[in-house]
Amino acid sequence: MLPMVDLKVQYQTLKAEIDEALAQALIESQFILGPNVKAFEEEVATYLGVTHTVGVASGTDALHLALIAAGIGEGDEVITTPFTFIATAEAICYVGAHPVFVDIDEKTFNIDTRQVEAAITPKTRAILPVHLFGQGADMSDLEAIAAKHNLLIIEDCAQSFGAEISDRKAGALGFAGCFSFFPSKNLGCYGDGGLIATSSDQAAAHLRVLRDHGSWKRYHHSELGFNSRLDELQAVILRIKLKYIDKYNRARQRIAQRYSAALAELPNCIPPYEEKDRTHVYHQYTVLSPYRDEIISALAANKIASAIYYPIPLHRQVVFQQECAGVNLPVSEQVAAQCFSLPIFPEMSDQQVDRVLEVIRSTLLGKV
Ligand SMILES: Cc1ncc(COP(=O)(O)O)c(C=O)c1O
Repeated sequence: MLPMVDLKVQYQTLKAEIDEALAQALIESQFILGPNVKAFEEEVATYLGVTHTVGVASGTDALHLALIAAGIGEGDEVITTPFTFIATAEAICYVGAHPVFVDIDEKTFNIDTRQVEAAITPKTRAILPVHLFGQGADMSDLEAIAAKHNLLIIEDCAQSFGAEISDRKAGALGFAGCFSFFPSKNLGCYGDGGLIATSSDQAAAHLRVLRDHGSWKRYHHSELGFNSRLDELQAVILRIKLKYIDKYNRARQRIAQRYSAALAELPNCIPPYEEKDRTHVYHQYTVLSPYRDEIISALAANKIASAIYYPIPLHRQVVFQQECAGVNLPVSEQVAAQCFSLPIFPEMSDQQVDRVLEVIRSTLLGKV
């Protein structure tokens, strides 16, 4: 089976380095907030061009803690996209705030910035864009709207490690940038992990307290916090993979170009759209086709995986049924009905890409 992402093949290429570094960390045995977490935080801060980063237990926690540090709470509203993983909206709800979903742009599938201002109310405190599938949302528009209405921006960068938006790294533009290191992410660890980037000294200090049981000094607790620290052994792996992230992202871009050049020649298939001022790091390679079901079945018959991100936009999820009664977001619904994602990972060979393309080509040409 050709998988969506082949973590086994990546481990084989890094095995010697990872095994040695893990063995060393086991010998040192500083398992909680040890030297690798600290070093990783510094290395990522330099990479992103921010003053601070705070490692936490997951991307979901990164969003949750960032919202608390932003002072967002009960009854506040946060504008976000319905076309994302549930965690984006879950985090907003965890602090007692309400997600206000704004429809997406039909080409990039990111939040449609032209519709954001109409969603602002006196309760709106923040905008939470998701840099979906590895391409940044339109941050210049969002920064202008946020400045005009005195709102904070919290970026969900779970899918966009290393992506650039007008020469700045995703996660370095808002009040906070929230990352996930879930294994299949562009920068993934071997379990759960996350991180918040911020250039606010105050927010960084607060986040360090929040992730460690509300304590600023051992057994001194200034508020209720969480057990949400980035694991030391995960930091060991992340430090190694961080060295290769640009190479990995370039490999993803090359595969995406190969896919797009071929798919652009086919009927009934729209390859991903790339904005000119952004680098797309292709966490997912996502296509639109009215023949999605046929293509997915043909791929499966040829032992090729595919996935639908996302089949149901958040405003249509049962969990938001009451909150979103009467909400209509037609673009996200149309995209959800036709989108599907193809295998993409840095080590994917040209032959594997061609295998995928051949199945799609014969399925779509059989329809005309
Ligand atoms: C857009 C988005 N936000 C948040 C998350 C949550 O990250 P985690 O799984 O690390 O909690 C994910 C991924 O899993 C995601 O894709």
